[in-house]
Amino acid sequence: MEILQSAAALQAQTEIWRQNKLRVGLVPTMGALHEGHLQLVRAAARENDVVVVSVFVNPTQFNNAEDFRLYPRVPDADAALLGPAGCTALFMPSVEQMYPQPTVLRFDFGPLEQVMEGEHRPGHFHGVATVVSKLFHLSRPHRAYFGQKDLQQVTIIRQLVADLSFDLEIVAYPTIREEDGLAMSSRNRRLSAEARAVAPRLYQALMLGAGLAQEQAQTPEAVQQAVAEFLAAEPAITLEYFTLADAQTLQPLAGFWPRGRTVALCLAAHLGGVRLIDNVLVTLPG
Ligand code: PAJ
Repeated sequence: MEILQSAAALQAQTEIWRQNKLRVGLVPTMGALHEGHLQLVRAAARENDVVVVSVFVNPTQFNNAEDFRLYPRVPDADAALLGPAGCTALFMPSVEQMYPQPTVLRFDFGPLEQVMEGEHRPGHFHGVATVVSKLFHLSRPHRAYFGQKDLQQVTIIRQLVADLSFDLEIVAYPTIREEDGLAMSSRNRRLSAEARAVAPRLYQALMLGAGLAQEQAQTPEAVQQAVAEFLAAEPAITLEYFTLADAQTLQPLAGFWPRGRTVALCLAAHLGGVRLIDNVLVTLPG
Protein backbone atom coordinates (compact mmCIF):
# COMPACT_ATOMS: atom_id res chain seq x y z
CA MET A 1 0.00 0.00 0.00
CA GLU A 2 1.28 3.42 -0.95
CA ILE A 3 0.91 6.44 1.30
CA LEU A 4 0.34 9.70 -0.58
CA GLN A 5 0.47 13.00 1.24
CA SER A 6 0.19 15.62 -1.47
CA ALA A 7 -2.62 16.46 -3.86
CA ALA A 8 -0.10 16.38 -6.74
CA ALA A 9 1.03 12.85 -5.84
CA LEU A 10 -2.56 11.59 -5.85
CA GLN A 11 -3.30 13.32 -9.17
CA ALA A 12 -0.18 11.78 -10.75
CA GLN A 13 -1.14 8.31 -9.50
CA THR A 14 -4.73 8.77 -10.72
CA GLU A 15 -3.43 9.68 -14.17
CA ILE A 16 -1.42 6.44 -14.38
CA TRP A 17 -4.38 4.32 -13.25
CA ARG A 18 -6.63 5.98 -15.83
CA GLN A 19 -4.06 5.42 -18.61
CA ASN A 20 -3.91 1.73 -17.64
CA LYS A 21 -7.73 1.51 -17.74
CA LEU A 22 -7.95 0.52 -14.08
CA ARG A 23 -11.25 1.01 -12.20
CA VAL A 24 -10.76 3.28 -9.21
CA GLY A 25 -12.80 3.02 -5.99
CA LEU A 26 -12.65 5.88 -3.45
CA VAL A 27 -13.52 5.63 0.25
CA PRO A 28 -13.45 9.07 1.93
CA THR A 29 -12.97 8.96 5.73
CA MET A 30 -11.80 11.06 8.64
CA GLY A 31 -9.83 8.16 10.11
CA ALA A 32 -9.96 6.47 13.53
CA LEU A 33 -11.10 3.57 11.41
CA HIS A 34 -13.49 0.84 12.54
CA GLU A 35 -15.44 -1.99 10.95
CA GLY A 36 -17.95 0.46 9.44
CA HIS A 37 -15.15 2.02 7.39
CA LEU A 38 -13.43 -1.28 6.66
CA GLN A 39 -16.53 -2.85 5.10
CA LEU A 40 -16.54 0.05 2.62
CA VAL A 41 -12.85 -0.54 1.83
CA ARG A 42 -13.43 -4.28 1.32
CA ALA A 43 -16.42 -3.59 -0.93
CA ALA A 44 -14.36 -1.10 -2.95
CA ALA A 45 -11.60 -3.72 -3.30
CA ARG A 46 -14.10 -6.29 -4.60
CA GLU A 47 -15.73 -3.95 -7.07
CA ASN A 48 -12.70 -2.06 -8.47
CA ASP A 49 -9.07 -2.62 -9.54
CA VAL A 50 -7.54 -0.09 -7.17
CA VAL A 51 -8.79 1.54 -3.97
CA VAL A 52 -7.98 4.99 -2.63
CA VAL A 53 -8.85 5.63 1.01
CA SER A 54 -8.59 9.21 2.22
CA VAL A 55 -8.01 9.93 5.89
CA PHE A 56 -8.50 13.64 6.48
CA VAL A 57 -10.16 15.38 9.42
CA ASN A 58 -11.79 18.10 7.36
CA PRO A 59 -11.87 21.40 9.26
CA THR A 60 -14.51 23.03 7.05
CA GLN A 61 -17.26 20.60 8.09
CA PHE A 62 -16.86 21.18 11.84
CA ASN A 63 -19.03 23.96 13.20
CA ASN A 64 -17.53 23.44 16.66
CA ALA A 65 -13.78 24.10 17.14
CA GLU A 66 -13.64 21.88 20.24
CA ASP A 67 -15.17 18.95 18.33
CA PHE A 68 -12.50 19.40 15.62
CA ARG A 69 -9.70 19.56 18.20
CA LEU A 70 -10.91 16.46 20.06
CA TYR A 71 -11.68 14.37 16.96
CA PRO A 72 -9.61 11.14 17.32
CA ARG A 73 -6.47 10.98 15.16
CA VAL A 74 -4.61 7.64 15.00
CA PRO A 75 -2.83 7.60 11.61
CA ASP A 76 -0.49 4.68 12.34
CA ALA A 77 -3.31 2.40 13.50
CA ASP A 78 -5.38 3.44 10.45
CA ALA A 79 -2.53 2.64 8.04
CA ALA A 80 -2.06 -0.78 9.65
CA LEU A 81 -5.76 -1.67 9.12
CA LEU A 82 -6.01 -0.49 5.53
CA GLY A 83 -3.48 -2.72 3.72
CA PRO A 84 -5.14 -5.99 4.77
CA ALA A 85 -8.59 -4.57 3.89
CA GLY A 86 -7.51 -4.07 0.27
CA CYS A 87 -6.49 -0.40 0.10
CA THR A 88 -4.05 0.39 -2.72
CA ALA A 89 -3.28 4.01 -1.84
CA LEU A 90 -3.82 5.83 1.44
CA PHE A 91 -4.24 9.56 0.92
CA MET A 92 -3.40 11.48 4.10
CA PRO A 93 -3.05 15.15 3.18
CA SER A 94 -2.35 18.08 5.48
CA VAL A 95 -4.90 20.90 5.82
CA GLU A 96 -2.57 23.05 3.66
CA GLN A 97 -2.59 20.44 0.88
CA MET A 98 -6.39 20.32 0.79
CA TYR A 99 -6.91 24.04 1.37
CA PRO A 100 -3.93 25.92 -0.12
CA GLN A 101 -6.17 28.99 0.00
CA PRO A 102 -9.45 29.72 1.82
CA THR A 103 -12.45 28.64 -0.27
CA VAL A 104 -15.02 31.19 -1.40
CA LEU A 105 -17.60 28.94 -3.11
CA ARG A 106 -20.62 28.11 -0.89
CA PHE A 107 -22.73 24.98 -1.28
CA ASP A 108 -26.42 25.22 -0.40
CA PHE A 109 -28.54 22.09 -0.74
CA GLY A 110 -31.84 23.82 0.03
CA PRO A 111 -34.48 21.71 1.80
CA LEU A 112 -32.12 18.70 1.94
CA GLU A 113 -29.94 20.52 4.45
CA GLN A 114 -32.58 22.49 6.30
CA VAL A 115 -33.41 19.42 8.42
CA MET A 116 -31.58 17.23 10.94
CA GLU A 117 -27.76 17.53 10.70
CA GLY A 118 -27.89 20.53 8.38
CA GLU A 119 -30.30 22.35 10.68
CA HIS A 120 -28.33 21.55 13.84
CA ARG A 121 -24.81 21.96 12.39
CA PRO A 122 -24.98 25.06 10.16
CA GLY A 123 -22.40 24.91 7.35
CA HIS A 124 -21.64 21.23 7.95
CA PHE A 125 -22.76 20.01 4.53
CA HIS A 126 -21.05 22.92 2.80
CA GLY A 127 -17.80 21.60 4.28
CA VAL A 128 -18.60 17.98 3.39
CA ALA A 129 -19.50 18.88 -0.21
CA THR A 130 -16.35 21.00 -0.55
CA VAL A 131 -13.95 18.28 0.59
CA VAL A 132 -15.76 15.47 -1.22
CA SER A 133 -15.71 17.49 -4.49
CA LYS A 134 -11.97 18.03 -4.07
CA LEU A 135 -11.43 14.30 -3.40
CA PHE A 136 -13.49 13.41 -6.49
CA HIS A 137 -11.37 15.73 -8.65
CA LEU A 138 -8.06 14.52 -7.23
CA SER A 139 -8.77 10.78 -7.45
CA ARG A 140 -11.31 10.68 -10.33
CA PRO A 141 -12.97 7.50 -9.01
CA HIS A 142 -15.36 5.30 -10.97
CA ARG A 143 -17.16 4.51 -7.71
CA ALA A 144 -17.22 6.25 -4.32
CA TYR A 145 -18.35 4.49 -1.14
CA PHE A 146 -20.39 5.90 1.73
CA GLY A 147 -22.21 4.56 4.80
CA GLN A 148 -25.92 4.73 5.54
CA LYS A 149 -24.86 5.67 9.09
CA ASP A 150 -24.71 9.23 7.69
CA LEU A 151 -27.94 9.01 5.72
CA GLN A 152 -28.31 12.74 5.07
CA GLN A 153 -24.69 12.91 3.90
CA VAL A 154 -25.27 10.17 1.28
CA THR A 155 -28.41 11.92 0.04
CA ILE A 156 -26.60 15.24 -0.27
CA ILE A 157 -23.61 13.68 -2.03
CA ARG A 158 -25.92 12.00 -4.55
CA GLN A 159 -27.41 15.45 -5.20
CA LEU A 160 -23.90 16.93 -5.55
CA VAL A 161 -22.97 14.25 -8.11
CA ALA A 162 -26.16 14.86 -10.08
CA ASP A 163 -25.96 18.65 -9.96
CA LEU A 164 -22.27 18.86 -10.95
CA SER A 165 -22.31 15.88 -13.39
CA PHE A 166 -19.53 14.01 -11.63
CA ASP A 167 -18.91 10.93 -13.78
CA LEU A 168 -19.01 8.33 -11.01
CA GLU A 169 -21.32 6.02 -9.13
CA ILE A 170 -22.19 6.47 -5.45
CA VAL A 171 -22.39 3.17 -3.58
CA ALA A 172 -23.94 3.04 -0.09
CA TYR A 173 -23.58 0.27 2.50
CA PRO A 174 -25.62 -0.37 5.66
CA THR A 175 -24.66 0.68 9.18
CA ILE A 176 -22.33 -1.66 11.07
CA ARG A 177 -23.15 -1.97 14.78
CA GLU A 178 -21.52 -3.26 17.94
CA GLU A 179 -23.12 -6.41 19.35
CA ASP A 180 -25.27 -4.34 21.69
CA GLY A 181 -26.64 -2.28 18.80
CA LEU A 182 -24.52 0.88 19.14
CA ALA A 183 -23.64 2.16 15.66
CA MET A 184 -19.88 2.11 15.17
CA SER A 185 -18.42 5.60 15.11
CA SER A 186 -14.98 7.14 15.49
CA ARG A 187 -16.50 9.31 18.23
CA ASN A 188 -17.36 6.20 20.32
CA ARG A 189 -13.69 6.23 21.35
CA ARG A 190 -14.39 9.40 23.31
CA LEU A 191 -17.25 7.91 25.38
CA SER A 192 -16.60 7.44 29.13
CA ALA A 193 -17.37 3.98 30.56
CA GLU A 194 -20.64 5.37 31.96
CA ALA A 195 -21.67 6.90 28.64
CA ARG A 196 -20.69 3.76 26.72
CA ALA A 197 -22.88 1.67 29.04
CA VAL A 198 -26.02 3.65 28.19
CA ALA A 199 -25.18 4.38 24.51
CA PRO A 200 -27.09 1.31 23.18
CA ARG A 201 -30.27 3.09 24.28
CA LEU A 202 -30.02 5.21 21.12
CA TYR A 203 -30.50 2.16 18.90
CA GLN A 204 -33.17 0.79 21.26
CA ALA A 205 -35.01 4.11 20.91
CA LEU A 206 -34.85 3.84 17.11
CA MET A 207 -36.16 0.28 17.22
CA LEU A 208 -38.99 1.36 19.51
CA GLY A 209 -39.88 4.11 17.03
CA ALA A 210 -39.56 1.73 14.05
CA GLY A 211 -41.97 -0.74 15.66
CA LEU A 212 -44.53 1.97 16.36
CA ALA A 213 -44.20 3.38 12.85
CA GLN A 214 -44.77 -0.05 11.33
CA GLU A 215 -47.88 -0.58 13.43
CA GLN A 216 -49.14 2.76 12.10
CA ALA A 217 -51.45 2.88 15.11
CA GLN A 218 -50.09 6.30 16.00
CA THR A 219 -49.25 9.61 14.36
CA PRO A 220 -45.60 10.59 13.70
CA GLU A 221 -45.90 13.09 16.58
CA ALA A 222 -46.97 10.33 18.99
CA VAL A 223 -44.01 8.16 17.88
CA GLN A 224 -41.75 11.16 18.39
CA GLN A 225 -43.07 11.63 21.90
CA ALA A 226 -42.69 7.94 22.82
CA VAL A 227 -39.07 7.94 21.64
CA ALA A 228 -38.29 11.21 23.46
CA GLU A 229 -39.81 9.82 26.69
CA PHE A 230 -37.83 6.58 26.38
CA LEU A 231 -34.57 8.55 26.12
CA ALA A 232 -35.54 11.09 28.78
CA ALA A 233 -35.61 8.21 31.29
CA GLU A 234 -31.81 8.01 30.95
CA PRO A 235 -30.33 11.18 32.51
CA ALA A 236 -26.90 10.63 30.88
CA ILE A 237 -28.48 11.11 27.41
CA THR A 238 -29.62 14.46 26.04
CA LEU A 239 -31.63 14.13 22.85
CA GLU A 240 -30.89 16.85 20.28
CA TYR A 241 -33.45 15.72 17.72
CA PHE A 242 -35.45 12.71 16.68
CA THR A 243 -37.08 12.97 13.26
CA LEU A 244 -39.30 10.72 11.19
CA ALA A 245 -38.56 11.61 7.61
CA ASP A 246 -39.23 10.42 4.09
CA ALA A 247 -36.15 8.33 3.24
CA GLN A 248 -35.79 9.98 -0.19
CA THR A 249 -36.56 13.63 0.42
CA LEU A 250 -35.59 13.67 4.13
CA GLN A 251 -38.55 15.93 4.81
CA PRO A 252 -40.48 15.32 8.07
CA LEU A 253 -43.44 12.99 7.73
CA ALA A 254 -46.94 14.37 8.05
CA GLY A 255 -48.44 10.89 8.38
CA PHE A 256 -47.83 7.18 7.84
CA TRP A 257 -48.85 6.96 4.21
CA PRO A 258 -48.72 5.90 1.45
CA ARG A 259 -48.22 2.24 2.34
CA GLY A 260 -44.98 0.74 1.08
CA ARG A 261 -43.16 4.04 1.62
CA THR A 262 -39.70 3.91 3.26
CA VAL A 263 -39.35 6.03 6.37
CA ALA A 264 -36.06 7.13 7.98
CA LEU A 265 -35.95 7.46 11.76
CA CYS A 266 -32.98 9.68 12.59
CA LEU A 267 -31.59 11.02 15.84
CA ALA A 268 -28.72 12.99 17.35
CA ALA A 269 -27.93 12.90 21.07
CA HIS A 270 -25.26 14.03 23.51
CA LEU A 271 -23.70 11.58 25.98
CA GLY A 272 -21.24 13.19 28.38
CA GLY A 273 -19.97 15.76 25.89
CA VAL A 274 -19.92 13.42 22.88
CA ARG A 275 -22.41 13.91 20.08
CA LEU A 276 -23.63 10.76 18.32
CA ILE A 277 -26.03 10.22 15.41
CA ASP A 278 -27.87 7.13 14.23
CA ASN A 279 -30.76 6.14 11.98
CA VAL A 280 -32.81 3.17 10.80
CA LEU A 281 -34.99 2.73 7.73
CA VAL A 282 -38.41 1.06 7.86
CA THR A 283 -40.76 0.27 5.02
CA LEU A 284 -44.41 0.80 5.90
CA PRO A 285 -46.40 -2.39 5.42
CA GLY A 286 -48.05 -2.56 1.98
P1 PAJ B 1 -16.32 9.40 8.65
O1 PAJ B 1 -17.22 9.75 9.77
O2 PAJ B 1 -14.93 8.94 8.94
O3 PAJ B 1 -17.04 8.28 7.81
C1 PAJ B 1 -16.48 7.80 6.60
C2 PAJ B 1 -17.51 6.90 5.92
O4 PAJ B 1 -17.76 5.77 6.74
C3 PAJ B 1 -18.85 7.63 5.73
O5 PAJ B 1 -19.38 7.32 4.47
C4 PAJ B 1 -19.69 7.05 6.86
O6 PAJ B 1 -21.08 7.06 6.60
C5 PAJ B 1 -19.15 5.63 6.93
N1 PAJ B 1 -19.42 5.04 8.25
C6 PAJ B 1 -19.09 5.55 9.47
N2 PAJ B 1 -19.56 4.75 10.46
C7 PAJ B 1 -20.20 3.71 9.85
C8 PAJ B 1 -20.90 2.55 10.32
N3 PAJ B 1 -21.03 2.29 11.62
N4 PAJ B 1 -21.43 1.72 9.40
C9 PAJ B 1 -21.31 1.98 8.07
N5 PAJ B 1 -20.66 3.05 7.56
C10 PAJ B 1 -20.11 3.90 8.44
O7 PAJ B 1 -18.36 10.80 6.95
C11 PAJ B 1 -17.23 11.28 7.03
O8 PAJ B 1 -16.18 10.64 7.64
C12 PAJ B 1 -16.89 12.63 6.40
O9 PAJ B 1 -18.02 13.45 6.45
C13 PAJ B 1 -16.35 12.53 4.96
C14 PAJ B 1 -17.38 11.93 4.00
C15 PAJ B 1 -15.05 11.69 4.92
C16 PAJ B 1 -16.00 13.94 4.44
O10 PAJ B 1 -15.05 14.54 5.25
